[in-house]
Amino acid sequence: MTARIIDGKARALRLTSEVAAGVAARVAAGKPPPGLAVVLVGDNPASHVYVRNKRRMTDTSGMRSFAHDLPATTSQADLLALIDALNVDPAVNGILVQLPLPPQIDADLVTERIDPLKDVDGFHPYNIGRLVLKRPTLRPCTPYGCMTLLKDTGEDLIGKHAVVIGQSNIVGRPMALELLMERCTVTICHSKTRDLPGTCRRGDILVCAMGRAGMITKDYVKPGATVVDVGMNKITDRAEFEKFFKGNEKREAAFAKNGSTLIGDVHPNAAEVAGKITPVPGGVGPLTIAMLMVNTVTAAKMRRGGKLKASA
Ligand SMILES: NC(=O)c1ccc[n+]([C@@H]2O[C@H](COP(=O)([O-])OP(=O)(O)OC[C@H]3O[C@@H](n4cnc5c(N)ncnc54)[C@H](OP(=O)(O)O)[C@@H]3O)[C@@H](O)[C@H]2O)c1
Repeated sequence: MTARIIDGKARALRLTSEVAAGVAARVAAGKPPPGLAVVLVGDNPASHVYVRNKRRMTDTSGMRSFAHDLPATTSQADLLALIDALNVDPAVNGILVQLPLPPQIDADLVTERIDPLKDVDGFHPYNIGRLVLKRPTLRPCTPYGCMTLLKDTGEDLIGKHAVVIGQSNIVGRPMALELLMERCTVTICHSKTRDLPGTCRRGDILVCAMGRAGMITKDYVKPGATVVDVGMNKITDRAEFEKFFKGNEKREAAFAKNGSTLIGDVHPNAAEVAGKITPVPGGVGPLTIAMLMVNTVTAAKMRRGGKLKASA
């Protein structure tokens, strides 16, 4: 069997054009365009790329983008003061502080300082709590994107056994809550899970979010399972590249050109066993940014007439 590829790029394009149409209709009706403030602290090269893409998508969707690029030496007090200002700025509907933050800043404190109704990353305890209670408002973007892709497959999720590898606050845990909300039976795995391959092989749905390049081989996959690969790992080493992509002409050409390639947490040979699979790149990644746009529109709708409403 060769797995059907779940095309996240195409899905994200459709979603962002729907968002853009919705924003245009809002503006035509005399409402202000939703505004998204993206705060970047420091010089992490990967963060720069993510932030650039988020800002570009905000502009493309017809929303207002507010850029705040701060030096790596920024104090925690200064960052919190900026968040306080954005919290009360009526033109700003969404606030995103790109992680990771420099060591002098407590990321949890920053997350909790953001107005929960402007928390478009969905990381604030208020928004995680709403997800726990099955009344989500602003949902963590990556798991929300994964759910969008899973629902698109047309597969009935009710009663399916879903296995999530990874229990981080931003991916694994909210992913498990999303699947539970869809009435899946959920198993969460982490670095101390015993018999990881055997546990994974019980999953009708297998979500991989560990940050371990190509670790999930076909031996972890139940035949016919739907595999969602959240991992994004950059390979620059030729020997490592060959371990995964030897003989893959398209990848070879890209590696020769860029000196690097992206691989998920799933090994290419998993596609021999899975029924459906998300690719890396072009799977979950594009959806994550699209869901950020969806959340920003949701946040703008919640702030109607200067009054806060906890449902859009
Ligand atoms: N596509 C996207 O838009 C997107 C968005 C966010 C993240 N990501 C990617 O998703 C991956 C995970 O991100 P994250 O922020 O959740 O990472 P994280 O905070 O480092 O968490 C990794 C999780 O994986 C578990 N883990 C690590 N090694 C393992 C192993 N050998 N066996 C079983 N479990 C293992 C860890 O277990 P313990 O808890 O026991 O340590 C932890 O729960 C990364 O590759 C990241 O780049 C992609």
